[in-house]
Amino acid sequence: MVAGNWKMNKTCAQAAALAEELVKGYRGEGAEVAVCPPFTALKCVKEALEGSSIRLGAQNVYHEDDGAFTGEVSVPMLKDLGVELVIVGHSERRQIFGEGDALVNKKVTKVLKSGLTPILCVGETLEERETGKTEEVVRRQTIEGLKGLSEREIGRTVIAYEPIWAIGTGRSATADDANGIIGYIREILEKIAGKETADTIRILYGGSVKPANAASLLGQPHIDGALVGGASLKADEFLGIISTIPERR
Ligand code: 13P
Repeated sequence: MVAGNWKMNKTCAQAAALAEELVKGYRGEGAEVAVCPPFTALKCVKEALEGSSIRLGAQNVYHEDDGAFTGEVSVPMLKDLGVELVIVGHSERRQIFGEGDALVNKKVTKVLKSGLTPILCVGETLEERETGKTEEVVRRQTIEGLKGLSEREIGRTVIAYEPIWAIGTGRSATADDANGIIGYIREILEKIAGKETADTIRILYGGSVKPANAASLLGQPHIDGALVGGASLKADEFLGIISTIPERR
C-alpha cells in the first residue's frame, strides 16, 4: 500500500486538481493506493477520484458518533463522504495535540468497529532513538494502540512505522534499519495476535519517502508500503513512488 498524507495542505480546488493528476497517472499497478486530504477537501477529492481505484482516507477522527465535541469529526461523517481509511495516532497528533495511547486506542477501536481501516502510526523521537528506547516506544504504542481488539480486528489494521526524526527532515531511516524495526513490530504482533496475523498484517514505513529511496525501502521483506507526506503533494513524485512497488506484491 502507498498512502499519501497531505497534512494541512491544499484547498478544495487544489486538492481536486492533484487528485485528478493522480487518476490520470495511476494505472492500477502494484500497490493499493490511498490519499488522505484534509477534512475540508474530502468531498472534492472523492468527486475527483470517481471511477479510479485510488481510495480515500482521512487524517484523524473522533471516537464518538455525535455530540458536544467542538471541532471534532466523527466516523459517520467520514463514511458519508466515502472515506475508507483513517490515519490514527500520527506523531503530529501525539506531539502537537497531546494525543496519548489511550485516546489512540479508542479511535482505532471505533474505526475498526465501523468497518473502516485504521492506519495506526507508531514511532520514536530522536531523543528516544539516541537513548536506545526505540523498541520500548514502538512496543508500547503498538500494544496500547491495539488493546482490547480481536486477532481478526488487528489483522484488518494497517500499521505505519514513522520515526519522528525522519518526518519532513529529508533524513529517511535506512532500508535496513526500517526493515529491522518493522520486523520487531511483527514479533510484538505475533505475541498479541498470533503468527498468521503478524505475517499478513500490512506495515508501512513513513518518513522522507521519495522516488529516489522508495525502491530500496519497499523492496525490504518486512515493509509492505509507504505512508508519504511531502512527496505526496506532487503528482509526479507520488506516482514515482507507486511505480517502485515490486510487482510480486
Ligand atoms: P514526510 O514524507 O514529509 O517525511 O512525512 C511523513 C509522514 O508524516 C506521513 O504521515
